[in-house]
Amino acid sequence: MYDLTVIIPTFKEEANIRNIVTEVDAVLKHTGIEAEILVVDDNSPDTTIAIVNDLKASMPNVNLLVRTTDHGLSQSVADGFLHASSDIFVVIDADFSHPPALIPKMYKEIRAGNDVVIGSRYMDGGGIRKWPLKRRVISLGATFLGRLLFPDITDPVSGFFAIRKQVVAQAHLKPRGYKILLEVLGKGIWEHDKEIPFEFSDREIGSSKLKIKTIIEYAQQVVDITLYSFTHRQSAAWREWKRVFKFGIVGISGIIINQGVLISLKEYAGFSIPVASVFAIELAILNNFIWNDLWTFKECDKTQKLSCTWHRLLLFEVVSAGGAIINFALLNILTFSMAIDYRIANIIGILLGFGWNFVVNRRITWIRK
Ligand code: GDD
Ligand code: MN
Repeated sequence: MYDLTVIIPTFKEEANIRNIVTEVDAVLKHTGIEAEILVVDDNSPDTTIAIVNDLKASMPNVNLLVRTTDHGLSQSVADGFLHASSDIFVVIDADFSHPPALIPKMYKEIRAGNDVVIGSRYMDGGGIRKWPLKRRVISLGATFLGRLLFPDITDPVSGFFAIRKQVVAQAHLKPRGYKILLEVLGKGIWEHDKEIPFEFSDREIGSSKLKIKTIIEYAQQVVDITLYSFTHRQSAAWREWKRVFKFGIVGISGIIINQGVLISLKEYAGFSIPVASVFAIELAILNNFIWNDLWTFKECDKTQKLSCTWHRLLLFEVVSAGGAIINFALLNILTFSMAIDYRIANIIGILLGFGWNFVVNRRITWIRK
């Protein structure tokens, strides 16, 4: 039994495979981690398999899994999870896009109690070298969608990550496309995660196999994970839905306060409507802030670098004003220029304003740093 299994998915990597296996092995030997190196190859038509077999002769910790059905990167990684001989897995590309030198750090973070450790291109200190604009745009789009499901994670589609075996042991993964990490985050069982910045460098040798089909598969995957979260209440995406729900309940309490204060101040204290409304709105915002801070986002670790309460309150006020403007603008535009019934227009406005308030506050006011 090894401490760690490094899973390297390969397809036609004859130019890189020897170097990556040798380097990964050297890094781990150097830090005293007993690691299995598991190459998962999709029956490459080049000499990749022959080279790995040759390496195996002198390196007993190298194993090779050759697949002949269900060709694909994600499928290969998932197969690697099933064939690994340890309880901690690291996944790394063969083309040196991911630095092997970070593997020991990822391993230590898992040993320190994290379930998932992600090499992130999009956090402070991370980056991407030598990517054409098109790849950057596609990647940012994919990352944006992924972050709706996992707002605290900066790079939920990274190909470089470590997990504990238990995360995926019971998970019903439906691997496809390139984004196996998103599948693991969406369907695996995990609580603690950690990101480590790294600089992604594009391959020097060979070519990327990313295609249009990959993008479509990705969109399907996001929908699938969302649906999965409704039926599997232990999933992380379900934790996010619970927050949306709580945020909605708090919002309803805010509407009641807003309306109650407005009526009371006007009817019993003789305030004019505009003045009464200012107090009503502000009290509702304060009410919403307090409950969201204490309840909806209570798991956000506010001691860790997250801005102080006053800072959060200020952000919340600004973001909520944006939500109010969206609601107001939609009500008027839909009613007056599109002749939609004002009651329906207002519901649409409220829902979009709510969506804005949740997503933006989640990403700005209560993001975990
Ligand atoms: N077994 C197997 N089967 N391996 C594959 C397949 C496949 O069908 N396709 C690609 N690989 C292997 C490659 O040999 C390489 O080791 C790794 O998967 C990444 O493939 P690339 O083709 O170099 O991917 P990329 O550079 O476009 O994509 C990278 O960025 C994505 C994030 O934007 C990879 O790091 C992905 O893992 C990552 O999700
Ligand atoms: Mn690559």
